[in-house]
Amino acid sequence: MGAEPLEIHLDDRDLSRSLRRDVRLGLTATEKWLPPKWFYDSRGSELFDEITRLPEYYPTRAERAVLAARATEIAELTGAKTLIELGSGSSEKTRLLLDACTQRGGLGTFVPLDVSVSALAGSTAALAADYPGLRVRGIVGDFTRHLDRLPTGGRRLVIFLGGTIGNLLPDERAEFVAGMRAALEAGDWLLVGTDLVKDPAVIVPAYDDAAGVTAEFNRNVLRVLNRELDADFDPAGFAHVALWNAEHEWIEMRLRAERSMRVRVLDLDVDFAAGEDLRTEVSAKFRPEGIAGELAAAGFRTERFWTDPDGLFGVTLARAA
Ligand code: SAH
Ligand code: TRP
Repeated sequence: MGAEPLEIHLDDRDLSRSLRRDVRLGLTATEKWLPPKWFYDSRGSELFDEITRLPEYYPTRAERAVLAARATEIAELTGAKTLIELGSGSSEKTRLLLDACTQRGGLGTFVPLDVSVSALAGSTAALAADYPGLRVRGIVGDFTRHLDRLPTGGRRLVIFLGGTIGNLLPDERAEFVAGMRAALEAGDWLLVGTDLVKDPAVIVPAYDDAAGVTAEFNRNVLRVLNRELDADFDPAGFAHVALWNAEHEWIEMRLRAERSMRVRVLDLDVDFAAGEDLRTEVSAKFRPEGIAGELAAAGFRTERFWTDPDGLFGVTLARAA
């Protein structure tokens, strides 16, 4: 059938407008921050794929183990006709579900949604070639803004893998889950992957690997700003820092100015003191009761919860009540 042309809900003008807004908001705040979606230009998406193969980065392998063990059960329970994936990236692990759903029969359409055009272009071409009977309909969009544009009708299964839900701050997460419920009909399904709370000695190296890939990924956001906004960050002047925040049970990624610097971006002069941090991401870690509670508050009933054999990563299958 071949992949259909990408459906663009975020064009270059939208992207540039929201990048400018985020940069203005985040870089003028007392504690400087940037939202994580700007990591993922084509280089960023490649670096993330490299992260998923690092020995220290356990979440991808652990989530894949759960999906490999449960894909058939998920296909049978949900009887999905349309599979929608948010923040789909390369959709590599998703193949386990596509295999199980096509084997069972009934799956007609796969709809990956991502902000990264390059990731989507690659994944939709590869999937259309490997799943000839499947309609592959990629959407360039923002899952914090475009949930109301998901395809309707048929029995839908929405999947949100990789622990990406943990990259939203708690308020954003509540808004996201409520928006997700509003976009679905009662009886539709949601499959969410969440990294679990554990010894920080296991978590921290996953976000600060020995080969320095995560550090490069983190600094890549500065390169995006330099290119897109003609800013003059010196990426080499920032150190990658991964900090476990025990109060919030999340890991924070920061870029630490190694000397005082003045950066020109948009019409702003942004001053960094030596040692000052720019927060680029949080990645929340979850407890099973917390996940089920947040989903229930938004009108989802948790039907199954699985972990990998080592109990590192959780996958929840919930149904819109
Ligand atoms: N699901 C894949 C990729 C996870 S990385 C996996 O499990 O390995 C996170 C992905 O979400 C990236 O592909 C990134 O481009 C995308 N993303 C991040 N923020 C987004 C947003 N606000 N809207 C849509 N996609 C987003
Ligand atoms: N969703 C991934 C996670 O929270 C994204 C990620 C992995 C990430 N490593 C990172 C984001 C490093 C920023 C920096 O695990």
